[in-house]
Amino acid sequence: MEKTEKSDLVLAWLNDALAMENALAAVLQHRIKDAEGFPAIEEMDRRHLTETLEHADRVKRCIARFGSKPSTVKSMFGTIFGAMQAPMTGLAKDEVIKNCLVDHAAEQFEVASYTALIAAANEIGDTETAEICEQNRREDEAMAARIIAGIPAVVAAHLGSIEKFPAGRAASGEMMGQPVAPAPTSDAAMTGGQD
Ligand SMILES: [Fe+2]
Ligand SMILES: [Fe+2]
Repeated sequence: MEKTEKSDLVLAWLNDALAMENALAAVLQHRIKDAEGFPAIEEMDRRHLTETLEHADRVKRCIARFGSKPSTVKSMFGTIFGAMQAPMTGLAKDEVIKNCLVDHAAEQFEVASYTALIAAANEIGDTETAEICEQNRREDEAMAARIIAGIPAVVAAHLGSIEKFPAGRAASGEMMGQPVAPAPTSDAAMTGGQD
């Protein structure tokens, strides 16, 4: 790859994309922990994590084709997405829903980033980078659509759980037909005998 000002820009954006994917992978590790006891959510998060790590690998391969190593400079993108990691606090109020909204926004951000990269890569005639970014973009689009499609069920499960558990113990595991996680013994007194 001939080094020009434009190719430097594509390389810088690839490093931004890598920082973004790495930061999202870290967020997903937290999401998986948050989903403990809720197998359907956990499985979706694990699948998303696998996909995100694959995206990072593909971007690394693009960077290598520029004869470069991934940048270790802290990227703004890594910082933005790092802020998404806020763990679920308390006994799951509406965090499950908020996580969906944030995760959807993150996927759309990825789609926009890869769209910019594809245009720039094509501009410098690097069709291989363009194709790889296209593949990542397609999967991020599909993930965004999956997240959106799941929101009504998550909301319904949350609202249903408010009725069942007035103390605000949102049974997020009810979404996608999962059984409710066993109540912690400490609040068994709150829910026991009230149904
Ligand atoms: Fe991605
Ligand atoms: Fe993604």
